[in-house]
Amino acid sequence: MAAPSPAASLLLVLVVAASAALAPVASAVPFIVLHGIGDQCGNDGIASFTDELAEWSGSKGYCMEIGRGSWDSWLMPLQDQANVVCKKVKEMEELREGYSIIGLSQGNLIGRAVIEYCDGGPPVKNFISIGGPHAGTASVPLCGSGFLCVLVDVLIQLEIYSNYVQAHLAPSGYLKIPTDMTDYLKGCKFLPKLNNEIPSERNITYKERFSSLENLVLIMFEDDAVLIPRETAWFGYYPDGAFNPVLPPQETKLYTEDWIGLRTLDEAGRVKFVSVPGGHLRISRSNMKKYIVPYLTPSCGSSKQSIRRILSY
Ligand SMILES: *[C@@H]1O[C@H](CO)[C@@H](O)[C@H](O)[C@H]1NC(C)=O
Repeated sequence: MAAPSPAASLLLVLVVAASAALAPVASAVPFIVLHGIGDQCGNDGIASFTDELAEWSGSKGYCMEIGRGSWDSWLMPLQDQANVVCKKVKEMEELREGYSIIGLSQGNLIGRAVIEYCDGGPPVKNFISIGGPHAGTASVPLCGSGFLCVLVDVLIQLEIYSNYVQAHLAPSGYLKIPTDMTDYLKGCKFLPKLNNEIPSERNITYKERFSSLENLVLIMFEDDAVLIPRETAWFGYYPDGAFNPVLPPQETKLYTEDWIGLRTLDEAGRVKFVSVPGGHLRISRSNMKKYIVPYLTPSCGSSKQSIRRILSY
């Protein structure tokens, strides 16, 4: 039998090298998508967003609906919305080994509540936050027209930190007026707890859970006119008592005193602060591929790179 040609031997080497690189194949981590206010999983935009990410990453993706979609995204208190998601993720066999969360706008606060509060839930590996009002927002998201918005506008006219509005208008749970911190800390039912802002009520469990993420990707939009200030997407915010200057995340007390583990995560190199062009949630496909997809296939990333390196060699 003739000796294999050099080309055939090279091919053999490539095949062996490629299988070696693939050897520790870890199964892809599935993800859930939590949509923003006024949206619902039945809408084309969010459905194709989920499908595209699933296709590009090779991981299973699920758009997670809460109650009656758009309607409840406005009117159901965020704690209740988070409880719905917590119950659902516990029931999903597919997520048993762990999963990632992709949040859009308000959906990020629900996602973070699931990470911090969901007792007995499956582990969350990566949290990719797209335009999330993590440190609050100083203005209610734009509504537009229609019956629902008329209702919302009526609620906004009322006292925002009153029990009534807190129980009937989801965004009142993260509306943070820096010149009205006393009422915010006293009356706002959702964000102060989520951010461990109240000294006497801090819960170390929230910090332990949040800081156990493998990756936290915080995507901010350069021309975001919905989140005020846009830096809230990075946990940046106004100082207590004034509307300027906007503090970068590392200068807020949430970070310096490490209320929820953001500093711990950052010092471990697990936080990616990403800024992309465009208005609120207007992420391009190329930036989705660049900043989201790599975190949906974390355990496969290195193998794929090795194969690409071998093949291009
Ligand atoms: C802290 O939060 C966890 C998770 O929700 C809860 O189980 C625990 O009871 C809380 N601890 C306190 C002191 O409230």
